[in-house]
Amino acid sequence: MDFVQIAGKYRGVVEKELATLFTPDGLVSDAGIPSDLVEPLKYSFMTGGKRLRPVLCLAACQAVSGRFDNAVPAALAIEALHTYTLIHDDLPCMDNDVLRRGQPTVHAKYGYAEGVLAGDALQAVAFALALKTPADAGAVCAVAMELARAAGPAGVIGGQWVDVCSKPPHDRARIEYVHEHKTSDLIQCALVMGAAAGGASEAQIAAFRDFGKNLGIAFQIVDDILDADDPAKADEMGVMLIMDKEAARHLASEYSEKALAGLDAFATPDPDRTEAVEVLRSLVEGQISRKI
Ligand code: IPE
Ligand code: IPE
Ligand code: MG
Ligand code: MG
Ligand code: MG
Repeated sequence: MDFVQIAGKYRGVVEKELATLFTPDGLVSDAGIPSDLVEPLKYSFMTGGKRLRPVLCLAACQAVSGRFDNAVPAALAIEALHTYTLIHDDLPCMDNDVLRRGQPTVHAKYGYAEGVLAGDALQAVAFALALKTPADAGAVCAVAMELARAAGPAGVIGGQWVDVCSKPPHDRARIEYVHEHKTSDLIQCALVMGAAAGGASEAQIAAFRDFGKNLGIAFQIVDDILDADDPAKADEMGVMLIMDKEAARHLASEYSEKALAGLDAFATPDPDRTEAVEVLRSLVEGQISRKI
């Protein structure tokens, strides 16, 4: 099955809820936002993302016996946070990309300052969404703390810092740090927030951390391989700086295998939980052959 077709049930909910964001009926409304700011905000996440992280969030909730509806605010939160990192990642001072998902990047369409501010806005919106998780105060706090960890300087910003700002040598340790933090941390965060919203045990959260780390590294290796075929991304080599394509594919498969093995911790006779675990399995299997 095509990577973006997997998990239609969760993806449909995510698309529907995202489409209402910044409208009067949305989980975050447009009240008080300048109308010409609403436009780039909506544009940034309605241009065809794969929705990997929100789908992981909903599936993780259901995999620990939660109702996946309870993870919808957290799922939107991680997509908002992810979208902000993409807007900033594309800026002239970072990767300087004018196309994303085949369409103009936010700064290319609306301007540099506008891109910076749209990203800033989505980061705050992500926390507002996470705090709307319908759970007891302890679980809401766990969800928000997880987002803060993953969004912060020991998380995605640390990864982006080393990726964008550090000088050679590009050794294995540096590449691993970048993959773990610029990519795995948000993938882990999606899973942990979903699981926490579903009332997960500490052991289940730990299992999702492991699974997310391995899936995230595999995902980023595949991203680096795909970027290598894109002339506009010739300076975004990632793991391809230290190995050829075949070795990179092999490494991605190794991390995918580790991720799949980690799903054994969620084996259960419960059909609802099994359905969610099978979605997680398909996402891992599908990403090795993904083309976008
Ligand atoms: C892109 O992530 C950034 C990376 C960490 C590689 P995705 O490939 O999940 O981006 P979209 O949202 O589906 O476009
Ligand atoms: C971006 O990584 C990761 C974050 C935005 C946190 P990349 O720079 O590899 O992502 P693409 O290739 O632009 O999607
Ligand atoms: Mg980058
Ligand atoms: Mg980039
Ligand atoms: Mg890339």
